[in-house]
Amino acid sequence: MKKDWFMNAIFYELYVRAFRDSNGDGKGDIPGVIEKLDYLKDLGVDCIWLLPMYPSPLKDDGYDISDFMHIHPDFGTIDDYKRLMEEAHKREMYVVADLVLNHSSDQHAWFQAALKDPSSPFKDYYVWSKTGKEYADARIIFLDTEPSNWAYCPEVGEYYWHRFYSSQPDLNYDNPAVQEEMLNTMRYWASLGLDGFRADAVPYLFEREGTNCENLPVTHNYLKKIRRTLDMEYPGRILLAEANQWPVDVREYFGNGDEFTMAFHFPLMPRIYMAMKKGDPAPIRWAIENTPAIPDGCQWCTFLRNHDELTLEMVTPEEREWMWQQYAPDPKMRLNLGIRRRLAPLLDNDPEKIRQANAILYSLPGTPIIYYGDEIGMGDNIDLFDRNGVRTPMQWSASQQNAGFSEAGQLYAPVIAAAPYAPEQINVADQQKDPQSLLNFMKHLVRLRKERPFLAKSSVQFLDTTSPATLCVIRGDETHRLIALHNLGDNSTDITLPSALQFIPKVELLTGTAIPQGLKTIKLAAHQSAWLE
Ligand code: NOJ
Repeated sequence: MKKDWFMNAIFYELYVRAFRDSNGDGKGDIPGVIEKLDYLKDLGVDCIWLLPMYPSPLKDDGYDISDFMHIHPDFGTIDDYKRLMEEAHKREMYVVADLVLNHSSDQHAWFQAALKDPSSPFKDYYVWSKTGKEYADARIIFLDTEPSNWAYCPEVGEYYWHRFYSSQPDLNYDNPAVQEEMLNTMRYWASLGLDGFRADAVPYLFEREGTNCENLPVTHNYLKKIRRTLDMEYPGRILLAEANQWPVDVREYFGNGDEFTMAFHFPLMPRIYMAMKKGDPAPIRWAIENTPAIPDGCQWCTFLRNHDELTLEMVTPEEREWMWQQYAPDPKMRLNLGIRRRLAPLLDNDPEKIRQANAILYSLPGTPIIYYGDEIGMGDNIDLFDRNGVRTPMQWSASQQNAGFSEAGQLYAPVIAAAPYAPEQINVADQQKDPQSLLNFMKHLVRLRKERPFLAKSSVQFLDTTSPATLCVIRGDETHRLIALHNLGDNSTDITLPSALQFIPKVELLTGTAIPQGLKTIKLAAHQSAWLE
């Protein structure tokens, strides 16, 4: 392993079930992912993040795990998994997978044992109450489906605690046996070659009366223990935190460099959409200026979309309302505190906007993550339940037969069928051939970014320009300087480069356009970005 390989890297998040079906049963599988590794390598991906592929009734798409130590039979076998690690590593790619610490499925043998025999030691693997009234200050996360964090269990005659669906009982971290079981889960997958973990829902591990049961010191202590164990037994593996929290609270998950290696940057993501819709750089500037410094050896993970709803937890209630009006005009597009749409439909399927959103993300610090399908501008299906609409089969080709995803008659979910996102319009094969495609733009952007490691970490300065709708980002260190100009407005604009930035750029990097010597004014079309070095 190269030291700090994750620092200047490109991550790619994928659902095994949605990516490629190798055996014609209508569901994607691990051998299917192996078939597509060369595609990912060619895109410039350094690390694949696999969403949960463990045995599960799939009521929360695999985040409801019924056996932490196996592979779901739909997705393959342990041998397939080992082969995936080998094949990825052969191509100098890393793989991380979800470590779902907070809860199990109610179908897990531990929970089932508790139901059968409430005096069994497994009952204490979960959190119970006789009244269902404790921890009243903890918010409900799945607001649209769950009326309470407590669910009554008739077999036991008590209530059990769950932060997500009631089919996902929370594990009891006050029980040392649970702590050890989950360390063993992590050890097991690391021993099979996994390069790290995306740790799910980490703020909620412990509960304490009188608190909101998030980000508690005892939770941080346990997470530090996880990190110590990993460092000692599997040095070099990474831990990526899913902590959807305000900057000051997320900062705690890095500890003194002794907790998480990486954490998602939740506050930045919605502000990119906000800034682009308002034609105002202020929200992005706010997010970056309020990003706390993190310890050496740590990194942010930045993203535009993922497999969940576009969460609006990290904005004010007024901003949330505004975002819903702007980006989710149809109430069906809303879910919990977010928006269940993909990148391309959110940005009006406008190539300039889609490119700009990415160009903004890649001009800021952090390690960017691509959500599968967004590199070709896939659409969504809001008629599907919950978040399933952004988890449809990957569109590999224009083929009438399931877009090249599967040869089966019946799929786990329908391929997007409606124009302008149907496979005839949006697919990998056609975009590979078209030099102007989004896919080829993404490949170019990924390369630009990786060739400039200073972009991953160096300081950020913002500059006011003569164009109020333009976000001007200056990045660099002693030897490099990159200026990214993003016209967020719906009209073209002329930007006079400030005299402090006297230099003679030769080429605009995103388009490869030559720039005349001595140019001091740059014209940017609506939602056009320019990178000058
Ligand atoms: C966060 C995951 O991203 C989401 O998909 C899941 O439903 C919850 N955690 C519960 O595991």
